[in-house]
Amino acid sequence: MPESFDLSKLDEVLSHYRGERGALIPVLQEAQNVYGYLPEEVLRRISRDLKVPLSKIYGVITFYAQFYLTPRGKHVVKSCQGTACHVRGAKGVLDSLCRELKVEPGGTTEDLRFSLETVACVGTCFLAPVIMIDRDYYGKLTPKRAVDALKKYSPDGKKEEA
Ligand code: FES
Repeated sequence: MPESFDLSKLDEVLSHYRGERGALIPVLQEAQNVYGYLPEEVLRRISRDLKVPLSKIYGVITFYAQFYLTPRGKHVVKSCQGTACHVRGAKGVLDSLCRELKVEPGGTTEDLRFSLETVACVGTCFLAPVIMIDRDYYGKLTPKRAVDALKKYSPDGKKEEA
């Protein structure tokens, strides 16, 4: 049974863009801001309203890395796998995060608390190996310290309501 979404907020977004050329990408961005990702039901409504075939919408979504077709975690963990981090043990850090969260890179935990991603360089090579959790940087990590960083974002952790 597909999940049902309150489409009234989407209708507000669509009403701003109706009849405008080039509306698809801004509509997708705003829809993702509303729902956190782009569920099929939302895409079908956008397709109907903007008169853009669903296949074309999926083509746009898969082209741009900023769009998500599945729910994302409340917190996004980015594990840097760039060269500086790689030579300082980023693989071990990533493995420990995968084990702790029980997800592969690109995955989201069942409780929707964390999504885990890999990135090429977050621009703080002097802190290698680095992870980011939301907007926070954690550097000079060991696998254990990376897992400890996650704990701040658990339900009783300090960052939960940040
Ligand atoms: S390679 Fe990881 S921060 Fe640059």
